[in-house]
Amino acid sequence: MKRMTQEEAFALNGYVESFLDEEPSCVKENYLDNDTLTKLILDATTFLDLPEDANKGKWFWYRRGGIEKEKWLQKFSDEYVKPLLRDDALLIGDTAFYINYPPHDVHVDNRDYRGDPEKDGIVGYKSVVIPLEIDTTDCPYLFTADQYFYGPSTRMRNGCEELDKDNPEHQRQQENGVYFSYDYAADGVKYLASTKISKSYYEEYIDEPYFVPYSTFDKLSIEGAHRWKPGNLIIFDSSRIHWAEKLTKRGATYKFGISLNYGLKIK
Ligand SMILES: [Fe+2]
Repeated sequence: MKRMTQEEAFALNGYVESFLDEEPSCVKENYLDNDTLTKLILDATTFLDLPEDANKGKWFWYRRGGIEKEKWLQKFSDEYVKPLLRDDALLIGDTAFYINYPPHDVHVDNRDYRGDPEKDGIVGYKSVVIPLEIDTTDCPYLFTADQYFYGPSTRMRNGCEELDKDNPEHQRQQENGVYFSYDYAADGVKYLASTKISKSYYEEYIDEPYFVPYSTFDKLSIEGAHRWKPGNLIIFDSSRIHWAEKLTKRGATYKFGISLNYGLKIK
């Protein structure tokens, strides 16, 4: 099976949705004890193998996928995450990452069969974010939206079509099967609000006109603000739109975490 084009993939949104329920997001506060968290940090650090010369300058996002294939991660998932999910949930991805800039923009992480031929017969179910390390005690938020998008993993870039044409990184991602929505209504985002998120919210938490423009928040509204704090687990539907607060708003210079994807077998 081949990776689908964006048009083919988005045409199946209603079909994918028919297998899924919509549930509120949640954060399990202080869910991991210190020993468990420390071991997870050690294992994830070894797995990620951050190069000495990683560019820790202005633009620094380093990630490694395939973490779901690691035995230590599978054991952690069985013990700490799976009991919180449906019995038939399957661990299907995803990464360990360091990031400081730019902030994670508006997106969905739905690693289903449309964008990944290895996921034949699997739809995205839950995304689980596991904060490991951050250099502030004033932890930033991960925001979840009221809006859903049942496409495969997609960056929500309403109003940015012209801007992205000149961005070689975006062009590279599009050529490698990362999907981009430039018009939320036309692409079928569900529960669009009548207004944008307020400008004062944007200035307080995001304020990133080039990488995360205000137009990307068009007709979105906030379902939850979840503390990106080591020891917490943040769980939300994979088709729920989300994004992260800009780290410098909290005086942080980096964050280190794991994001996991769970799927359901539909055939
Ligand atoms: Fe995400």
